[in-house]
Amino acid sequence: MKVIMLGAPGAGKGTQAKRLAAEYNIPHISTGDIFRANIKGGTELGKKAKGYMDAGQLVPDELVCDLVVDRISQDDAKNGYVLDGFPRTIPQAEALDAALAAKGENVDYAVNIDVPDEAIISRMSGRRACVGCGATYHIIFNAPKVADVCDVCGSKLIIRDDDKPETVRNRLSVYHAQTQPLIDYYDAKGLVVNIDGTKDMDAVFAEILEKIGK
Ligand code: AP5
Repeated sequence: MKVIMLGAPGAGKGTQAKRLAAEYNIPHISTGDIFRANIKGGTELGKKAKGYMDAGQLVPDELVCDLVVDRISQDDAKNGYVLDGFPRTIPQAEALDAALAAKGENVDYAVNIDVPDEAIISRMSGRRACVGCGATYHIIFNAPKVADVCDVCGSKLIIRDDDKPETVRNRLSVYHAQTQPLIDYYDAKGLVVNIDGTKDMDAVFAEILEKIGK
């Protein structure tokens, strides 16, 4: 099963992608997580990506496409994967299609989680992320057992640098200009599954499973 998660920043792609990956026992591949790990590790890729991410801009396609094509060729991805945050532009989608076509494969579903912009801005201000394992929480909708401490690994929870309201607004406008056109791109291939992302997390997950089959 090869699934792409579409949706605005904060729509709940990461939350649902982790659950789907566990359900189907396939890897969850998040380009945002890969970049954040590289920033934390001080790598060349991390240094190049940081400025774009902090400004709410997309990292250039040439820094993303090869990285993802390489990742989905690894052994643990041979039965499929959930791609979260990629593709994000038409050229990225074309690069993915070309890499898959070369192996006689294709994407099975593009799950589009729909949440209006106003709901996103209030959601993002409550997000907390673990500095250790990357787990994500929300101070109201998915609170950790102890405030600011990760349930999974005990590390500190922080507000992501790009979750400041002005950066979120910028990320939303970048999303509408550059990523939203992917809905039409995958719709033309008959792969889009539209999901109401305003419901609670369990209801959103149930709707996804119902629409893509358990
Ligand atoms: P990335 O990490 O991919 O960020 P994003 O797409 O902006 O998405 P988010 O992680 O912010 O949100 P999400 O939809 O996963 O929501 P979540 O589940 O956390 O990318 C970051 C940056 O990296 C980009 O801006 C770009 O610079 C760069 N980048 C990454 N990939 C790239 C690419 N392919 N090309 C170029 N640049 C790239 O949920 C959000 C919050 O809401 C959480 O607190 C969660 O607990 C809560 N929540 C989730 N679901 C619900 C619900 N149903 N009800 C209530 N609360 C909910």
